[in-house]
Amino acid sequence: MLTCGETWCKLYLMSTALGFLDGLAYGADYNPEQWGRDVWEDDLELMRRARVNLVSLAIFSWALLEPEPGRYEFGWLDNVMDGLAAAGIRADLANATASPPAWLSHRHPEVLPVTADGRRMSFGARQAYCPSSTVFRDASLSLTREIAERYRQHPALAMWHVSNEIGCHNAHCYCDVSAAAFRRWLEVRYRDLDTLNDAWGTAFWSQRYGSWDEITPPRVAPAFVNPTQQLDFRRFSSDACLDVYRAQRDVLRSTTPDLPITTNFMVMQFQKNLDYASWAPEVDILANDHYLQAADPDAHIELAFAADHCRGLAGGGPWMVMEHSPSAVNWQPRNVAKLPGEMIRNSLQHVARGSDGVMFFQWRASAAGAEKFHSGMVPHAGTKTKTYREVVRLGRILERLGEIAGTKAERAAAIVFDWEAWWAVELGAHPTIDVTYLDRMHAIYEALWRMGITVDVVPPSADLDEYRLVIVPTLYLTADDFAERLESWVAAGGTALVTYLSGIVDPSDHVRLGGYPGAFRALLGIRSEEFFPLRSGETVHLDDGSTADVWTELLHLDGAKAVASFTDGPVAGVPAITLNRRGDGTAWYMATRLDGEATHRLVKQVADDAGVKPAIPMVTAPSGLEVVRRSGPAGSYLFLINHGDETAHVAAAGYDLVGDREIGRSVSVRPGDVAVIREEIG
Ligand code: GAL
Repeated sequence: MLTCGETWCKLYLMSTALGFLDGLAYGADYNPEQWGRDVWEDDLELMRRARVNLVSLAIFSWALLEPEPGRYEFGWLDNVMDGLAAAGIRADLANATASPPAWLSHRHPEVLPVTADGRRMSFGARQAYCPSSTVFRDASLSLTREIAERYRQHPALAMWHVSNEIGCHNAHCYCDVSAAAFRRWLEVRYRDLDTLNDAWGTAFWSQRYGSWDEITPPRVAPAFVNPTQQLDFRRFSSDACLDVYRAQRDVLRSTTPDLPITTNFMVMQFQKNLDYASWAPEVDILANDHYLQAADPDAHIELAFAADHCRGLAGGGPWMVMEHSPSAVNWQPRNVAKLPGEMIRNSLQHVARGSDGVMFFQWRASAAGAEKFHSGMVPHAGTKTKTYREVVRLGRILERLGEIAGTKAERAAAIVFDWEAWWAVELGAHPTIDVTYLDRMHAIYEALWRMGITVDVVPPSADLDEYRLVIVPTLYLTADDFAERLESWVAAGGTALVTYLSGIVDPSDHVRLGGYPGAFRALLGIRSEEFFPLRSGETVHLDDGSTADVWTELLHLDGAKAVASFTDGPVAGVPAITLNRRGDGTAWYMATRLDGEATHRLVKQVADDAGVKPAIPMVTAPSGLEVVRRSGPAGSYLFLINHGDETAHVAAAGYDLVGDREIGRSVSVRPGDVAVIREEIG
């Protein structure tokens, strides 16, 4: 029998974690405990009709499964599991620890998390626990053991779902238990206080620590809190949440060594708290929850970015989307419903970018509770609805797409994404509030998306040799190791594009002296002596006709050549875009925030320089067409997803698995439609 501590076994599991399904996963979070038993029968019939083959079960069931400490009631869950098994639907069974019951915090109020200003939160929502609480830990492990023992051999059980979105609401707890855990974490990181004092720069503002006991989490203080203390607290908090996962996973692993185990990540635009690059190696399949921001008219591009990020974290794939919404969510200011076809497009975007399944939150829209206005695969209005009809249609499409499971999205470029850099660049007391981490990341990604170039979004630790083009946006905090590897990779023939405020500080958030951009000076062949951020709304111009805003800097060439220079603003005449030939490769630098058109032009020039090509020639494709190719031993599959309002005509030959039709020489994809062509090779 395989035991999964070993690397080879881990790799095996990563590539076959959903191997229990014959094709792609399709389903949702299933919360039957919110409904009477008469509804359960109906559920199974409607799932069968929709071709659902996997459900995530018991995620928020702790209070029902353990109504009093140590007294378990599994009867209802036994019935649900038996019903699923009889219907041929597999369970991604949760260990039910996502939200502790009222009795836990009633008996042990110290498990409740505390905010930075010292307020203890109350029971009554969800996730009301401190990640460092040993009381929570013991209770959650006891429940996990019970569930693992009870269902270990159940025929419906296919995989384990540990907790749910760990750290979504409680990643940062400032209570005394967390403070003690933070100190222990710091002792491991720094070993002695002198090293900590150096790293935290405590010579500043009389912050020197003489004993470990004096150190607290970065609670609310009269002025700017020490930035390295804040950074370390973020690192610690991500690790504390990861420990919550690991402890529960290990119980499951010891009971069922050969079943895949995962937890759902939140790789999306507003989830900054957890460093998923350190989490990714801990799951057997990377599972992600993704929700569109309704206010963003290009939310489908952000979806693509998040999906490419999941693939990058999963080392190229496979991965799975564990939750997205069938239509509207309930937690944004204006919860815009999905238009006809949008849910299918969103689902197939995830699949195009490497997800081996499509899962939703949730199966049946709740009638009560805080999420009663969140869409479900079965809406309040029942099955004679746009949503359920599309759910059934999507089930058919995914069944036909089953053969693509295990294939990988083709890509030649990477964007470097680092949670530590995100945390550090947005710490405050910086040159301007207008430089935010995701701004250039998304702008450059969007330019590549519009060109039909698929990129992996990868951590700095990724192997760059897989790529011809590497983009480094706003990597404010940069470790020596990455700077050195990027430099050798460029020298060996790679093309890199680095944007402003990169390479500025080391991992302790200390400025790299001698001129900016510190870690990348030699690679880029430049040296900046001073930042000149712009006033709100102020724009500057470049001699190639581009407009820019937010950022300028007093830059000197030190080997690089100027591609474009500022014609006005505080540093008129100074280079704004530079290019440095380094060994066999090239390193570009963008010293200002170019507008959309100019960003597109520059990124195109850099991509051409790198020899990176789109999945298909995009010269005449309409702007809303998303193009991705997945390939593998099973074949080559071209995804054409039309988000725009013009019909796209694309040269392709093969079989359209969505339209269920032969394609001779070209395919037309109408606005809102999707085609997935199994391509004829040769
Ligand atoms: C997720 C969560 C689900 C549900 C969903 C609503 O963050 O995991 O339980 O709350 O959001 O969009």
